[in-house]
Amino acid sequence: MRHELEITMNQINLPSHVNILEVGPRDGLQNEKQPVPAAVKVELVQRLQEAGFTQIEVTSFVSPKWVPQMADNAQVMAGIQRKPGVRYSVLTPNMQGLEAALASQPDEIVVFGAASEAFSQKNINCSISESMERFRPVVAAALAQGVAVRGAISCALGCPYEGEIAPERVALVARLMREMGVQHIGVADTIGVGTPRKVRLALEAALRHYPLDAVSGHFHDTYGQALANTLAALELGLSSFDTSVAGLGGCPYAKGATGNVATEDVVFMLHGMGIDTGIDLERLLDASAFISGYLQRVPNSRAATALLNRRNAT
Ligand code: HMG
Ligand code: MG
Repeated sequence: MRHELEITMNQINLPSHVNILEVGPRDGLQNEKQPVPAAVKVELVQRLQEAGFTQIEVTSFVSPKWVPQMADNAQVMAGIQRKPGVRYSVLTPNMQGLEAALASQPDEIVVFGAASEAFSQKNINCSISESMERFRPVVAAALAQGVAVRGAISCALGCPYEGEIAPERVALVARLMREMGVQHIGVADTIGVGTPRKVRLALEAALRHYPLDAVSGHFHDTYGQALANTLAALELGLSSFDTSVAGLGGCPYAKGATGNVATEDVVFMLHGMGIDTGIDLERLLDASAFISGYLQRVPNSRAATALLNRRNAT
């Protein structure tokens, strides 16, 4: 019986290493109502890189009128102490954002589009096709400067304004991003409504245009589905995920959306499955406790809560 179980598990071709992009400083903090000082953001990045993250999404070069919390983007980028081997990325919705971002020397920029027309309008004030026209010169200019380019496809599993989103919409945006030279895409469940089979379909749509190692899962955990969705993505062969320390975050233009899946939960699950992440869970907990302490709340992570309780009890 045990032998049969082992054979079944081995037949599922899971990756032996997973790349985690920590988005807490950007996706996590962008939704905080009270301004978080740049020094706190810088310290969070420092603690995350000490925990072993090699990809950190630091900030956004968006309009400070739209997202005031990210208005200190240049200050945060200037404050971080760059560690060799770490890729620091920033969001850039248009040429104005890219030009400001390049002065801060990011390793990677992110253009963010949507599979939903209504969300595109609410989030970046233009249609999907207009967004593609805006992104094209951004992508070309970044690549010409040797800066890596990632794309995000929001509302790939559902939209707060349009409801269900067909996988074909994800495939369309993936194709357009691929054609303009975006190197890696994140399939984003902005409002966390995806469930494993639907996630599989959305990822398969993206995989029509990108290879497995160029697609990430970006799952918000609003309905508690994100770990299950992560497992579904792993079983499909994905090995890159965006996660947020302490489960921080949400999108200001997707009401009710909560944070990305907590990094602690994903790391705990992956390590438990024998999958390497390069992350030191104890130091990740330190980062989680630091930012949660600053925000005066407990981490929105079951694993962090359990591990911190255990730590405090000893
Ligand atoms: P717009 O108003 O259409 O832009 O905004 P505009 O070109 O008409 O310019 C209007 C004003 O904005 C001008 O200033 C520009 O200078 C300024 P004014 O003359 O009125 O003083 N402006 C800028 N300022 C700073 N940086 C810029 C910039 N561009 C214009 N880059 C824009 C268009 C995209 C800028 C706006 O809609 C915006 O900033 N949106 C922010 C959206 C955002 O940050 N959303 C959250 C991040 S996305 C996300 O969380 C989803 C993700 O996690 C995946 C997922 O989970 O789904 C990635
Ligand atoms: Mg997000």
